[in-house]
Amino acid sequence: MTTNKSLFSLSLLFLKLLSHARADEHSHTYVDKEEVVLWMNTVGPYHNRQETYEYFSLPFCAGPKEAIGHYHETLGEALQGVELQFSGLDIDYKVNVPQTKYCEVDLTKQKYDAFVYAVKNHYWYQMYIDDLPIWGIAGEIDENGDGYYLWTHKKLDIGYNVDQIVDVNLTSEAKVKLIPNTKIPFTYSVNWKKSNIPYKDRFDKYLDPNFFQHRIHWFSIFNSFMMVIFLVGLVSMILMRTLRKDYARYSKDDELDDMERDLGDEYGWKQVHGDVFRPAYNCMLFSALIGTGYHISVVAFSVIFIAIFGELYTERGSLLSTAIFVYAATAPVNGYSGGGLYARMGGRVWIKQMVLSAFLLPCLVCGTAFFINFIAIYYHASRAIPFGTMVAVTCICLFVILPLTLVGTVLGRNLSGQPNYPCRVNAVPRPIPEKKCWFTSFLAASSTAAYVYMYSFYYFFFKTKMYGLFQTAFYFGYMALFSIALGFMCGTLGYAGTSAFVRKIYTNVKID
Ligand SMILES: *[C@@H]1O[C@H](CO)[C@@H](O)[C@H](O)[C@H]1NC(C)=O
Repeated sequence: MTTNKSLFSLSLLFLKLLSHARADEHSHTYVDKEEVVLWMNTVGPYHNRQETYEYFSLPFCAGPKEAIGHYHETLGEALQGVELQFSGLDIDYKVNVPQTKYCEVDLTKQKYDAFVYAVKNHYWYQMYIDDLPIWGIAGEIDENGDGYYLWTHKKLDIGYNVDQIVDVNLTSEAKVKLIPNTKIPFTYSVNWKKSNIPYKDRFDKYLDPNFFQHRIHWFSIFNSFMMVIFLVGLVSMILMRTLRKDYARYSKDDELDDMERDLGDEYGWKQVHGDVFRPAYNCMLFSALIGTGYHISVVAFSVIFIAIFGELYTERGSLLSTAIFVYAATAPVNGYSGGGLYARMGGRVWIKQMVLSAFLLPCLVCGTAFFINFIAIYYHASRAIPFGTMVAVTCICLFVILPLTLVGTVLGRNLSGQPNYPCRVNAVPRPIPEKKCWFTSFLAASSTAAYVYMYSFYYFFFKTKMYGLFQTAFYFGYMALFSIALGFMCGTLGYAGTSAFVRKIYTNVKID
């Protein structure tokens, strides 16, 4: 009997789960009167976009409805500080709600101070309905400066198309002056409207540059583009002319017979043919840099490609998750190029080189993130990375990236580990004028990154209104990371270009 009963309840549960899976916010289709969840995300200063806190860290109150369990977040969301909490508001599909009070805040001195602080710093909050983001501003300062007001009414206009939600607008109404020891009621209303927006286009509203007032500087992009093409043309023309002249001279010399020619009468770049392919001074670091650079380039281009053709913006945090996935999956690129180069340079301690190559970027990223995380925890910001997420990222590094880099390194050493330079390297280095660093090709190209980082300072002080330790650390920390990654990438491309060029010019000349 008991078995029967439990079997029955089990099948009921199963049915319930099934029906739940058929029509909920994961499938994005609803039946009439079905529950629609309003998730509260974060709240924070308008000018510091990365400084966000849990919505209920401000003394807002939740609606009467019971919480429905915690939202299961993805890796990307956890890293970006998404912190969804149930609003407690009762919203059902296609059911209009007139202005209804859902809770009341007893404005004690402490809560008063918290709200005044939030209004003063232009706090705004973010919510989600059916994965559509909604933004609202917390309050307003009176023009005369004699009071702080809180918006207490949330008017939600939701557009539906058959069984799907395609549009949401929030209007904040009913300003209430903040006075200590009073009660502030919070209300909401919901209006459902039929809409013609197709479901697949529902995110287009947010892509419209007018929506966020983001301007795309087409003119300056075009300008820079033209400048680059012009400069490349100019430089390559000059190089071509010089090279052609040199080739003509070298081939004339070859026609003279050995007796007539003075020994050691080489000049120009041909003179250094015995040294030009000599390995870099610190070849382990150099090959790790090049490997990482190739890796970053591949990841950057693949993610841009995926972002153009897939619709990553429709799901929270999916861009970051994708980037991490692509980074881990393309780790063999790092091993192959870095390991191959290291072998060509005659390096012997390849395991050390591989580990350095695999962990160079992850360590930089984790180091910066760790430092910023400290500040985030101190601020109780939602950007603080949870412990579980840290463990997950470490596991990805150790158990996915490292083995894949190993595979790449082994392949690289075996397939492209043989030096096949067009000319031999002299056993005894010639006394060429000493250069401080042999990495010139790499550093010249990666200096772009230094420019970008310097520009980020200008941008911070003159174009944005960010303030506070957390936002400043966040901005400069991650900007530094971005610049470093850009530097690796540009440096590698610069190195690849120069090395192809040098190889080409030495292949075409006869060396005796
Ligand atoms: C939301 O606002 C936009 C612009 O004002 C309007 O075109 C759209 O119809 C509104 N949607 C709903 C559901 O009210």
